[in-house]
Amino acid sequence: NFTPNAFVEEIVAELQEKIKDDKVVLGLSGGVDSTVAAVLLNKAIGKNLYCIFVNNGLLRKNEFQNVLEQYKGMGLNVKGVDASARFLDELAGIDDPETKRKTIGRVFIEVFDDESHLIEDVKWLAQGTIYPDVIESVSVKGPSATIKSHHNVGGLPDFMKLKVVEPLRMLFKDEVRRVGATLGISPELLGRHPFPGPGLSIRILGDITPEKVRILQEVDYIFVEGLKSHGLYDKVWQAGAILLPVNSVGVMGDERTYEKVVALRAVESTDGMTADWVHLPYEFLMTISNEIINKVKGVNRVVYDISSKPPATIEWE
Ligand code: XMP
Repeated sequence: NFTPNAFVEEIVAELQEKIKDDKVVLGLSGGVDSTVAAVLLNKAIGKNLYCIFVNNGLLRKNEFQNVLEQYKGMGLNVKGVDASARFLDELAGIDDPETKRKTIGRVFIEVFDDESHLIEDVKWLAQGTIYPDVIESVSVKGPSATIKSHHNVGGLPDFMKLKVVEPLRMLFKDEVRRVGATLGISPELLGRHPFPGPGLSIRILGDITPEKVRILQEVDYIFVEGLKSHGLYDKVWQAGAILLPVNSVGVMGDERTYEKVVALRAVESTDGMTADWVHLPYEFLMTISNEIINKVKGVNRVVYDISSKPPATIEWE
């Protein structure tokens, strides 16, 4: 029987014993796991925890600023690094999904390595690895997985040669949320939908441009805010929008338009391994579709993804 309070007490003591006066670096993602890991470590070692939150230019609209503010409000010693331009430059012209992932993983490691060099005498790398990541580490995708699977090999960026500390590695997701609640992390942050490390890049089919990122951020924002204001956000496991690489004909006033199509996706799931599309109310879909087409320049058609996993996946890439 898991008791969050007892866990916090034990792990804080354990972390203090293990880390002593050493410095620790941790990459925050805005997600539940890295946030809970950071707050636990902050409780244990305070200012010796150096958090880095990287903007890869592929986050949701306003997410970098909002989440950074929240982190500061929680008393974390966090540095926001806006590397958007670097990521978008490196991604220019790439349309293959796996190459996108690899590029983002590599640039993340470069940025993180540069940043950890600025912390004098850092000894530890903290990660928000949870138990399912430990048992499924081979199938986990994204930058964090790359860090995890390689951290003991030679010839690596310097931060990967650090000793690794993973305070959540024995916990399941619901336990992590309960620990987070005990630590006073806001229910809003703890209830956030999962969001992939490569961010919007794998929801822009084809090559990525700043303009496509902007369009998708606007569409995603209308959809997600709509889910929240209609009381649907917490009933959905994950939701987002996909920018398709096709234009379709439409009409606006008496003008013919030839603009982008976006797909909306909302799924129910427990672990992301299987998922069912959510039967969102038609009225809601109608409202959101109208709002997207009226407000987002460059989009004239909205479709809803009615595929379950398997055989479809949650992300389109
Ligand atoms: P799929 O598309 O495989 O997604 O059905 C299952 C879950 O994993 C997330 N996902 C990723 N997360 N890096 C991540 O950190 C990735 O490259 C990645 N690809 C998929 C996806 O958002 C869903 O929650």
